[in-house]
Amino acid sequence: MAVSSIRLNNGLMMPQVGLGTWPLKHHDAAPVIVTAIEAGYRHIDTAYRYQNHIGVGQGVRDSGIAREELFITTKLDGEFQGDDKAVAGLDASLRELQMDYVDLLLIHWPLPQRGEYVSTWKTFEHLFASGKTRSIGVSNFKPAHLEHLFSETSVRPVCNQIQLNPRITRPEHVEFGRTHQIVTVAWSPIGQGSDLLQDPTVSAIAEKYGKTTAQVILRWNIELGIVTIPKSANPTRIAQNIDIFDFALTADDVAAITALDTGAESRVDSDVNGH
Ligand code: A2P
Repeated sequence: MAVSSIRLNNGLMMPQVGLGTWPLKHHDAAPVIVTAIEAGYRHIDTAYRYQNHIGVGQGVRDSGIAREELFITTKLDGEFQGDDKAVAGLDASLRELQMDYVDLLLIHWPLPQRGEYVSTWKTFEHLFASGKTRSIGVSNFKPAHLEHLFSETSVRPVCNQIQLNPRITRPEHVEFGRTHQIVTVAWSPIGQGSDLLQDPTVSAIAEKYGKTTAQVILRWNIELGIVTIPKSANPTRIAQNIDIFDFALTADDVAAITALDTGAESRVDSDVNGH
């Protein structure tokens, strides 16, 4: 079954399931990328900070797929925030990936205590115009950070990538994104392999559809209209995590999973921490 895509606010299409790549490293990422592309993934999420760009780029070339078939996201590390350092930051990523462009460049963390995300974003606007990235967005931003960005800059982020899973559903973040045409992307969507995958509510729904609990949680992301980037290095689980387009959850299933929310925020408070 075909993987659905979401239209970003600049018209670009983003596949709704991507492969998360943290904590793969340069030396072990390539075969995982090949496996994922063979399993049908066309969206790969990486970051300079993960130190796996060399392997990700190698995997893309090893797969034999045309570059333009893929949607590649990377994230600018904090060391490249401020002034025009994002230019060097994106160049460093492209050099390691051995690519001419990425599809999406994100500010990895807002680091508001440094007060540089607005100037970084202005550089992102130039990078977007240069064609070295086909779209620009943010990660781990709170609505207040986005409001500040809107007041100082002109290009809207296409997405905000945040930690989101059935226990951390962050409804005000998702709603804020919807209001402003900013797609929410969920990182660690299955709770980093925690006991969330044994939750009785999710297990009952999984049994009903003959799917795994991970598949039900990822399908819940699809029903919410958000993008999800589960990480796996295991070929069976890689294939399983994208095999979610042959069933749909009912509104009651979606509500039951959403009700698992604990009200917790991300485990990292992006007003205080980040990289
Ligand atoms: P592995 O790479 O061995 O598959 P998240 O994307 O929420 O951060 O979760 C990633 C973690 O969940 C990894 O430890 C990964 O391990 C594990 N994982 C990924 N997919 C599945 C799955 N379908 N079932 C169980 N565990 C999974």
